[in-house]
Amino acid sequence: MSSFLSGLKRIAVFASGFGSNLQALIDSQNKNYFNGKIVLVFSNNESAYAIQRAKNSNIKTECFLLSDFNSRSDFDKKIIYMLKENNIDLIVLAGYMLLLGEEVIKQYRYKILNIHPALLPAFKGTHGIKDAFDYGVKVTGVTVHFVDEGLDTGPIILQEPVIIEDNDTLETLEEKIHKVEHKMYPYAVKLFCENRLLVEGRRVKIVDVNKPID
Ligand code: GRF
Repeated sequence: MSSFLSGLKRIAVFASGFGSNLQALIDSQNKNYFNGKIVLVFSNNESAYAIQRAKNSNIKTECFLLSDFNSRSDFDKKIIYMLKENNIDLIVLAGYMLLLGEEVIKQYRYKILNIHPALLPAFKGTHGIKDAFDYGVKVTGVTVHFVDEGLDTGPIILQEPVIIEDNDTLETLEEKIHKVEHKMYPYAVKLFCENRLLVEGRRVKIVDVNKPID
């Protein structure tokens, strides 16, 4: 397979919604920013705009719902089948609103990335930006981490702070967070594709950390 020969990592992006992070990844890929290729976009939501973004860029899409299956285990089997069939090396969760099944995580340990719009372990869950804003913290941020069996608990790869100013509204904070996400996620993918992420227990070391980001 040509992608194997060229060392390109074959990437599947899982997205359930708007897909702005998917778009940032597609744009980075188009600039050859990382040594990988998004070969598949999967969604559990037929009307996700992420699916449209993938189609606009001629990326293969798959869409099926948990409710299409008799059990969670059948759904997970189908996910694993899809990943194997497409020779996926890296799964990138980009606003995927369903916890991955344990078997998927086991088979792709340290090959699944997630982005969270807060500084983990603070403000886990689906409303990281709003929860941080409502709590009144002065600093929040973005985290990219490997996925493990917990909710937003896997080893942390990258974090970047975002200051909440007095005049910020939830909307301006969301904008700031997304701006950081759209730079950070492609960078995390780049690090993965260059085999520069070394997991030691809970700690993820970045090999050649001083190498320029580009
Ligand atoms: C992002 O804020 C991400 O951190 C979170 O879900 C959101 C997805 O946004 N996991 P989008 O669909 O990529 O625009």
